[in-house]
Amino acid sequence: MTTTQEFEAIVAAARTAFASASTPADLENAKAQYVGKSGRITELMKGLATLSVEEKKSRGAAINQAKQAIEAALTERRQALADAELAAQLRAEALDVSLPGRIREPGGLHPVSLTLERIEQIFASMGFDVADGPEIESDWHSFTSLNNPPNHPARSMQDTFYVDIDGDDGIPYNLRPHTSPMQVRYAHQHIKRYADAVKRGEPMPEIRVIAPGRTYRVDSDATHSPMFHQCEGLWLGENVSFKDLKVVFTDFCRTFFESDDLALRFRPSFFPFTEPSAEIDIQFQSGPLAGRWLEVAGSGQVHPAVVRNMGLDPEKHIGFAFGMGPDRLTMLRYGVSDLRLFFDGDIRFLRQFR
Ligand code: DAH
Repeated sequence: MTTTQEFEAIVAAARTAFASASTPADLENAKAQYVGKSGRITELMKGLATLSVEEKKSRGAAINQAKQAIEAALTERRQALADAELAAQLRAEALDVSLPGRIREPGGLHPVSLTLERIEQIFASMGFDVADGPEIESDWHSFTSLNNPPNHPARSMQDTFYVDIDGDDGIPYNLRPHTSPMQVRYAHQHIKRYADAVKRGEPMPEIRVIAPGRTYRVDSDATHSPMFHQCEGLWLGENVSFKDLKVVFTDFCRTFFESDDLALRFRPSFFPFTEPSAEIDIQFQSGPLAGRWLEVAGSGQVHPAVVRNMGLDPEKHIGFAFGMGPDRLTMLRYGVSDLRLFFDGDIRFLRQFR
């Protein structure tokens, strides 16, 4: 073997040894066998001592060349192992940033709740109290106290849900079909306060209240839901007139819809608990609903029979009542065409009102 071939073989063997070292420690061991203190190259260097000056020169240069080649291979392999180690570490610590996060969405009020809040605020600013009452109601409160004759169609099973529990009068309780029973309930709740005021020689306090809440009827289509909302209004005083009803309700509608450009129409109607009675229609002058009359409430001057059932004197307690549909108002305010969307609980719909 010539010297050159011998050195080339050593370099090749070193490369193979380095390539098969799979960790930095293995590589350092392999390095020691070639360029370490007693490695092959170091041994060859030591052998130069016995040679002539000429031979030292040429052989020394060849050994140096081999040493440089081995060191270059070593550096290359060191880098490759370091790269592989880094790559493995990155793989182990990898985060899948494409996975959607777990977001907790902010909540919001239901559109009908927003409307009820708005109604309460507006009427509170006009001095109305806000009252709440039971959804399971007696026949007397839902019908009799409100001057409904015994054969009134609202009392039939086709219109009203009944509960399997009889009241004291032997008639089953109902899921209140309207908020009107709150008129009599509220008067009864405050009757002692009124009587005490009169005893003290003070003027009789007015009754000025709204009662929003859930109501139920056997009815279901795009504009009727078996569970819906109503808001009752009642203002009784010494002489509260139909004119006051017009002022209050017109004011309410214009504030609610934020428009002075709103026409109201009081259309003659019939309710057993009011006389005279009127349906209240509104008409927008601009926007997508412009020009159409839209019914929003029933109303009228409270019937003397109802005032008597409140325990009050109909000669002294005169005023109006109304019952409106907050669901309807919400549909008009937000341009919703199907009432059922309010009760489906679809987050894609509800999210829009957040
Ligand atoms: N209770 C009636 C209904 O559900 C609405 C109503 C009409 C309420 C006239 C009133 C009123 O207080 O005066 O259809």
